[in-house]
Amino acid sequence: MSSDITSPPKKPAESPPRRVRPPREPEASVVIDYLKQRSSLFSALVDLREAGWNSAAGDTYFLDRENNADNADDATRKKFFKMMVTVLHQLDKATSAISGAGSPPSPLTVLDLCLAPGGFTQGTLQLRPGSRVKGITLPMAEGGHKVLLNLRGNADVMNVLFHDITMFSNEFGLPAKLVPEDHPDKARFVDFRPFAMLRFDLVFCDAQMLRTQERGEHRGHLVERIRLRASQILIALGRIKQGGTMVMLLNHMEAPQCIDIIRDIDSISEVTVWKPEKIWGVKSTFYLIAKKVRSASDEAKKLLEKYRELWRKATLDGVYPEWTEKEVEEMLKDYGDRVIQLGTETWRVQAATLKRSAFIRREMDKENQPVRELVDVVGRVALEKEI
Ligand SMILES: C[S@@+](CC[C@H](N)C(=O)[O-])C[C@H]1O[C@@H](n2cnc3c(N)ncnc32)[C@H](O)[C@@H]1O
Repeated sequence: MSSDITSPPKKPAESPPRRVRPPREPEASVVIDYLKQRSSLFSALVDLREAGWNSAAGDTYFLDRENNADNADDATRKKFFKMMVTVLHQLDKATSAISGAGSPPSPLTVLDLCLAPGGFTQGTLQLRPGSRVKGITLPMAEGGHKVLLNLRGNADVMNVLFHDITMFSNEFGLPAKLVPEDHPDKARFVDFRPFAMLRFDLVFCDAQMLRTQERGEHRGHLVERIRLRASQILIALGRIKQGGTMVMLLNHMEAPQCIDIIRDIDSISEVTVWKPEKIWGVKSTFYLIAKKVRSASDEAKKLLEKYRELWRKATLDGVYPEWTEKEVEEMLKDYGDRVIQLGTETWRVQAATLKRSAFIRREMDKENQPVRELVDVVGRVALEKEI
């Protein structure tokens, strides 16, 4: 029997989109090997992270999370704002960074870098009523997050400058007119130095590189990361009071650049790290808390010179810091034990959160034996005291 109704060709089943791994510093592998040899917790965590990268359910989870953040509606924005207020309270509970800053219980002077939506400012005003906050954050027109604080009704308490923090070239030692004419962003650099005359008890550096910000190819992932970090460190160190407190978002403690920053800040302050489970549990992100920052010291002045140079090289030449294997080994000889001391608790939190995550559990349900064994190992080593 013939028929002229032909059934449509069968579409091949569409496979779900996979995550693209962000570029990593090549010499991170030297640190990873070093840490794996010395910390069974870190070693198990690296394998568990890898299982996450290999899991299709993990891809779906992380892509959904990114999609929600990039296309947030008002309800999602409010949720994120509330979560940041909660994170601030948890951070203070764990470290007393806010309740102990300045001269308690007096109000604080606060500089909130990359402030939007403003949860940290809100939480700080709850913990230290009467505090005054200055903030800088990326304009929404450039892809920045929306500020959810009542700025108009509280103009005497909060003052927010909407600007890309990496473009204050004069602040970073390069007057705008000296930026070469052929630089793609020539017209966007400014001489204005934000809040230059003010000094602060507490400075937040909470920048997160945004996918929603349009940047030319000259601002690739690794270049922009050091531009953001250097810009925050320079503005923060230039304005924090002697003895002040600084809180900085960082990620991938096993990357040489991250270790270098921690070591620098550690050399002029009392450093701890803390990882919020709810927002950053499954990722390698954490906060560095620096108390009693000796901002007037010669070491701090040297750091200003160092980070000006890093900003300049990244901005003008598109160069990010790279280490040779030998330099990384030297860094670890000097500071490796301290990395383990500071990192262990953050690794414990990440391992425990990954172990409980829906996507790792999904792999276990699928009888994925290697992942099952890994989860067992993580459970065991997470209970061991490593330091
Ligand atoms: C993790 S959110 C900060 C959350 C904030 N601390 C809070 O408590 O609500 C990261 C922020 O970095 C900002 N940001 C990213 N790149 C920036 C840039 N180049 N200049 C200024 N702000 C930037 C984003 O707009 C976003 O507001």
